[in-house]
Amino acid sequence: MPKLRVSPLVQPGVRGLEPYVPGTPIEEAARTVGLPPESFIKLASNENPLGMSPRAAEAVHRHLARAYQYPEVDCPDLRRTIGRRTGVDPDSVVVGNGADGVLYAFFMALVGEGDEVIVPDLTFSLYATVVRGMRGVVVTSPVRDLRIDLDDMLARITPRTRILCVCNPNNPTGDLLCRDELEAFLNRVPEGVMVALDEVYCDFAEPGAFWSGAEALARGSSNVFVFRSCSKIYGLAGLRVGWGVGDPELVGYINRIRPPFDVSVVAAIAAEAALDDTGFYARTLELTAAGKRYLSGELERLGFRSLRSHTNFVLVDVGRDSREVYSALLREGVIIRAGYRLLPTYIRVTVGTPEQNERFVHALERCL
Ligand SMILES: Cc1ncc(COP(=O)(O)O)c(C=O)c1O
Repeated sequence: MPKLRVSPLVQPGVRGLEPYVPGTPIEEAARTVGLPPESFIKLASNENPLGMSPRAAEAVHRHLARAYQYPEVDCPDLRRTIGRRTGVDPDSVVVGNGADGVLYAFFMALVGEGDEVIVPDLTFSLYATVVRGMRGVVVTSPVRDLRIDLDDMLARITPRTRILCVCNPNNPTGDLLCRDELEAFLNRVPEGVMVALDEVYCDFAEPGAFWSGAEALARGSSNVFVFRSCSKIYGLAGLRVGWGVGDPELVGYINRIRPPFDVSVVAAIAAEAALDDTGFYARTLELTAAGKRYLSGELERLGFRSLRSHTNFVLVDVGRDSREVYSALLREGVIIRAGYRLLPTYIRVTVGTPEQNERFVHALERCL
């Protein structure tokens, strides 16, 4: 049989894509350095170090036998819980397989060949990947002093611009754009251009500092779309639940293109329980705030500057090739994130439990 030539069949937008680089999984790290998996801590994917909300875990156990069922397509109970917990109209909510799943459906609904999407050059990598996959054009906006430059993004708008991507708080910097900056920006975005506001880390922002695009939506701005996640503060990264908030008409279109059953029965039930687990939410916040204080203090003691973080991770300049530091830490059983093209001497570390944070600091000291 002749061997099929695959690449001519693949869409040009997909052919040019680089694979997504996740935080190194523990199993892979164990194979790489030949240590047992139990000896690793993973501070590379901004997961919740407290694990899963106990109320969610209990709900999963109770309802696991329902895994044979298809879920309701638009998860009305989960959307109602999201509405009640976050103060948005459930009709403006679309759920998905993580915020990633919602991002995919959003871009699929809005981006066609040649459409321009403006993306900061230092932000979550998935926006550019999906846009390119849809044959859209990624227009890169340089960050300034490690902050998303909203003026620069506005200056790059052309008649072909469809979307501006703003991650707030931003990954990997941890930086936050404040209400005044965002409102002034939203007021200047021309009609017909959407603003995608990725707020998956917003729960960790310093008290009072965060302003959600959902407020602009509530006031009638239909050109804002907000992304949120159950993966971070709610501890459900492995169950894959996220949601978007936007104009109900747009939500309707996104629902037409998203995979209809991409939030499973069990995941939706877990997400509802996690959203209502206010005790777990508060414990995670407290742990993260204390962990950030500890890490920034210790990093300063070691002579490093870490950026003020409004997330559950810290970005720090270690003043040498970050990939070498990554490898040295891996041999110590500590997995962190490194290798940012624009920041070759920076590492990103998820805030862990106090024991994990200490282990990271001591391992870093030994590596230097
Ligand atoms: C900025 C940002 N947006 C979206 C996501 C995806 O979140 P989810 O796990 O809900 O797909 C992540 C995951 O780390 C992220 O950092």
